[in-house]
Amino acid sequence: MDIFVINGGKRLEGTIEVSGAKNAVLPLMAVALLSNGTSVIHNVPRLRDVFTMKKLMQMFGAQVAFENHILTIDCSHITKYEAPYDLVKTMRASVYVLGPLLARFGKARVSLPGGCAWGPRPIDLHLFGLQALNAQLTLENGYINATADRLHGAEIIFSKSSVGATGNVLMAAVLADGETVICNAAKEPEIATLAETLNAMGAQIKGVGTTELRIKGVSSLRPMNTSVIPDRIETATYITAAAITGGKITVTRATPFHLTAVSEKLREAGVSVIESDDTITVEADSVIKPVNVRTDVYPGFPTDMQAQWIALMSIADGNSVVEDTIFVDRFTHVAELNRLGANISVDVNKAFITGVQELNGAEVMSTDLRASASLIIAALRARGQSIVHRVYHIDRGYEAVEKKLQALGADIRREQE
Ligand code: UD1
Repeated sequence: MDIFVINGGKRLEGTIEVSGAKNAVLPLMAVALLSNGTSVIHNVPRLRDVFTMKKLMQMFGAQVAFENHILTIDCSHITKYEAPYDLVKTMRASVYVLGPLLARFGKARVSLPGGCAWGPRPIDLHLFGLQALNAQLTLENGYINATADRLHGAEIIFSKSSVGATGNVLMAAVLADGETVICNAAKEPEIATLAETLNAMGAQIKGVGTTELRIKGVSSLRPMNTSVIPDRIETATYITAAAITGGKITVTRATPFHLTAVSEKLREAGVSVIESDDTITVEADSVIKPVNVRTDVYPGFPTDMQAQWIALMSIADGNSVVEDTIFVDRFTHVAELNRLGANISVDVNKAFITGVQELNGAEVMSTDLRASASLIIAALRARGQSIVHRVYHIDRGYEAVEKKLQALGADIRREQE
């Protein structure tokens, strides 16, 4: 297993380019299943999750090539319809294949993902939505067996906003008979780009980017030729890393408009944030002001930045509270941040942070993707050397993270444990 060795205390300075968004490309790869032909996706990040999804598509019989950040996926000869436990347990987003497989082939067998480091993470809303579209679902030996002669449009009212359930049901509804209305749909940019791509393939979706999606089913879709939007969480992670080191960086090829909640909070913390259409520049003082955060659905503060924000607040000049309303158990990074000298306690879904003047290098363990990002951020600030274990988590969602940080002047290197 790889580890990161980080000698903290270096001010980050310079310019880096953001990669395509993990949470946008994974559903787009599943979309390829909806058409009988070769889809092309540009600006694809080289991430572990992308390789996992590639493997899954190949297991279905798709021909997949991935070079120069371009993925081509030929779904003309799909012969298998099963997403096995081995893959689904390493990447929950595998569940995205359920809707497209059902819509085009009328059958799918997908392992239940089970729990994750942040708690149970059910997929009941995905199943509820697909059943409303006339899918027959049974649970057997840890697998969802799904069949449908024809999917029929329906009105689906989600009791909770869910990115995954909205995406899955949307990908099924585009080929269903009649009209589907999804109420309380997620409107995260990754869902909006999914809907726009489907429309470019011939789907008829109205209300893109809102919480009510109206879909008129069509009989077939053309293959896609699309480009992945910039990763808003990756961008936000790097600017937060710059802030904690009192640095000044510019992130290019970004979409600052997707990160306004994070930019606003950084400004409240005393960080200068300057945005253009596709760049974002931050410059931080040596003093970070304490700022409370409550995560929310888009355009609120993203839960995927909660851990990184706690790392920043750990050295703020005072006390702050970070509340996660989306994933209430997502705090495994806190104990590790405390190993670096932070002073944080957790009560249910709130972290209470007492800012400390300095963090000190230590050995810490990554427990999930964004937790790893928070530990790296904290280690970049900490005095002395830190070792971050299990960095395979970060490789799931950040392309070449150590190279990008090195380009900004960080002292970080990857080693084998
Ligand atoms: C996606 C993102 C993840 C992000 C999250 C919230 C991908 C691949 N992952 O995850 O990075 O943190 O959105 O922005 O895009 N829920 C249910 N039942 C369901 C589905 C969800 O109760 O069937 C609950 C969840 O437990 C959670 C909330 O709904 O409390 C939101 O989860 P959801 O938006 O579905 O997250 P994911 O799609 O899994």
